[in-house]
Amino acid sequence: MVATLAGKTVVVVGGSSGIGYGVAKASLLSGAAHVVVVSHSQEKAARTVARLQADAAAEAAAAPPGTQLPVTGTVAGDALDAHDLASVRAFCERVGEVDHFVWTAGDRLRLGFPMDLEANRDIFDVRYWGAAQAAMSIKIREGGSIVLTIGSAITRPRKGWSFIAPVLGATDALVRGLAIDLAPIRVNVVCPGLTDTEIWDGVPPEVKKEMLEDTAKRLPVGKIGTPDSLAEAYLFLMKCDFITGQRIEVDGGNKYV
Ligand SMILES: NC(=O)c1ccc[n+]([C@@H]2O[C@H](COP(=O)([O-])OP(=O)(O)OC[C@H]3O[C@@H](n4cnc5c(N)ncnc54)[C@H](OP(=O)(O)O)[C@@H]3O)[C@@H](O)[C@H]2O)c1
Repeated sequence: MVATLAGKTVVVVGGSSGIGYGVAKASLLSGAAHVVVVSHSQEKAARTVARLQADAAAEAAAAPPGTQLPVTGTVAGDALDAHDLASVRAFCERVGEVDHFVWTAGDRLRLGFPMDLEANRDIFDVRYWGAAQAAMSIKIREGGSIVLTIGSAITRPRKGWSFIAPVLGATDALVRGLAIDLAPIRVNVVCPGLTDTEIWDGVPPEVKKEMLEDTAKRLPVGKIGTPDSLAEAYLFLMKCDFITGQRIEVDGGNKYV
């Protein structure tokens, strides 16, 4: 039978923004019974709940008749600080058993070369240590899965990305280990290419525009990613019961140019 997310609880740490928000919205639109969006701030999580409910309802209403599952799922917001492993463990305890656990949380990108390594010793905290702690602590129901997030800099770093690329590499390797250690829970990772999200808000608008346009022209697909296009990969990894230990590269063909 074709899988949906009907009856499932989906938790998205990083669901308050960007790719994670796209995954949370797509989960609701795919019939999830309950979606938990997790931010670093309770206040932002609460705002995200309202935004998500409104966006999902509007999208469902705009779909051609008969093409959209009714949005019946509930939404909750929560917060943790991925720099603090006790906060990650406490969240996992609080949220209880879930079907699918997604980690898209990532703090500001530490770019540049050379880099002050003392000042950036915490570079692994959110994308690696936080994700690793959560994967060990979260209780997943039978048939459920964990999906983590890395990025195409793992294989094609740009200038100045030397020290963030290994963080992604560590998380990539972690997934293959967890697929064995946590089996039969399935554990996979999505590797996005350049995607238009809030992560680039710190970049001056004209620089951001140029970066997005230049990349779009270079990629075989002729455009950059959106949270909606990335969300498809997370949904697939949640629903397909025969995939584990895999990396899915959703990068518009970045590695072929
Ligand atoms: N966008 C891209 O082009 C791209 C490409 C490749 C890989 N990626 C990777 O994909 C992941 C998601 O990216 P995105 O573009 O969706 O980023 P984003 O829009 O900036 O979202 C990042 C999320 O991480 C959360 N977060 C940050 N610090 C946290 C902390 N200490 N504790 C808990 N949550 C924290 C944020 O929560 P608050 O908003 O509440 O702070 C937010 O929900 C990141 O790891 C990023 O490096 C992105």
